[in-house]
Amino acid sequence: MSVVVDELLASIAPDLVEFERRLEASVAADFGPMAESMEHIVRAGGKRLRPALVLLSSALGTANRDHTFNLAMGIEFIHTATLVHDDLIDNARTRRGITTIHETVGTNPAIIIGDYYFAKGANLLASIGEPSIDLAISNTVMTICLGELLQLTSHRDYNQTLDEYHRKIARKTAALVETCCYCGAVVSHLDESRTEALRQYGFLIGMAFQIADDVLDYTATADQLGKPVGADLRQGTVTLPLMLALQTAGAGSALRQVLARQPLTDADYEQVVQLVRSSGAIEATEAQAHDFATRARAQLGEFEPSDARGTLEMVCDYVVDRTI
Ligand code: IPE
Ligand code: IPE
Ligand code: MG
Ligand code: MG
Repeated sequence: MSVVVDELLASIAPDLVEFERRLEASVAADFGPMAESMEHIVRAGGKRLRPALVLLSSALGTANRDHTFNLAMGIEFIHTATLVHDDLIDNARTRRGITTIHETVGTNPAIIIGDYYFAKGANLLASIGEPSIDLAISNTVMTICLGELLQLTSHRDYNQTLDEYHRKIARKTAALVETCCYCGAVVSHLDESRTEALRQYGFLIGMAFQIADDVLDYTATADQLGKPVGADLRQGTVTLPLMLALQTAGAGSALRQVLARQPLTDADYEQVVQLVRSSGAIEATEAQAHDFATRARAQLGEFEPSDARGTLEMVCDYVVDRTI
């Protein structure tokens, strides 16, 4: 897997290459055992959505290049740290097409490596010398932890409300995407109303992105995603496709019957996936993702036409149409 989509990001392609160079060099400079595990996951790529949003947001104003790259790297390290811990919590065996860190080096080292990269990210951000960035990111990490905790404590709660689901994904995912755009606006010295528009854009993109992720968990293949599918259900994480399917007249009662079984077998999980797929809930979930993406696009009306704005508009389509 590689960056978002080469064509989509053509306007910042050279900066993304430079970002990769700096990211690798920064990991390689770490103490041996710390660098080793991280090098694998960093080299395995990932979509680099967050750094791309930092670069694009910064391009809407005038930013110091080192500050922009340190911001993009700091946030990518923090994102990667959340994945290392998320995979440990979720017991996931693969990520970005390779074996997860906790599977490779064990639980305790994975906890330490995750902590290290949270701090390394914060360290890079602090080097920018903008207190509002440090405030935003520390607040965001607290928010992500709350989102992950709420997810844990609402396991197999099939009666949670749509509002609860939205609040959870806002915390675990949209908050960090929002922060990418907000901090990009800060380093490029945008005025207050543009900073606010961009922050909102990031939040709405983050919501659309996570809803699309929740759809892919029901519709994609593991090969496509580089991580297990059907995993949310097996982990007890109740997401929008299942929630909407439970509300349908046709599939709802059949689903409740299967989900009441203890324990659920592989065949039961398969049946739930099939029921969700044929219930119309996938389409209804995709419509919600589109709605968030449309609202994100509207925020860009604050900006003059430019390559960066054009690409941010394309990101609105990308987050909902993506297949990885
Ligand atoms: C994974 O994020 C966690 C979610 C918010 C769904 P990404 O899907 O952006 O992961 P990478 O960075 O591309 O691997
Ligand atoms: C992860 O959400 C969000 C994080 C804060 C890491 P998911 O659990 O849906 O992410 P994946 O599906 O494992 O990538
Ligand atoms: Mg997970
Ligand atoms: Mg997921």
